[in-house]
Amino acid sequence: MEEVSDLVNAAIKAANNAYAPYSKFKVGCAIRASSGKIYTGCNVENVSYPVGTCAEAGAIAAMVNGGDNKIDEILVYADSGILISPCGACRQRIVEFSDKNTRVYLSNKDGVQKIIEVEDLLPYCFREF
Ligand code: THU
Repeated sequence: MEEVSDLVNAAIKAANNAYAPYSKFKVGCAIRASSGKIYTGCNVENVSYPVGTCAEAGAIAAMVNGGDNKIDEILVYADSGILISPCGACRQRIVEFSDKNTRVYLSNKDGVQKIIEVEDLLPYCFREF
């Protein structure tokens, strides 16, 4: 997936920084915002398990703090054979900063496996109207 190799590399770098001593499952997320800037996040677990945060949440927080609020592309990466996909809560987080053109890339250790539209990630989602 040539055109998102920068996002793949950024997400791999983020995953290497993940704090996942409980699940041992390191995840990285890279966002290309509408400004062109790339933001990353990793999962940060906690001994009180529900307190842990997903890589997507970290990347979105970094994006908002960086002054962006529109996701053009978001890539989620796990160094695993299984295909990783955002959890329900993160789907709602992604929708908040997406539009019809936002693309979601799902990537594992073998590279990008799937490209999906936000509409398909969270159909009939709750949006302001
Ligand atoms: N995780 C993410 O960071 N993003 C996802 O899309 C799915 C799951 C994290 C949460 C937890 O730290 C670990 O992966 C195992 O579920």
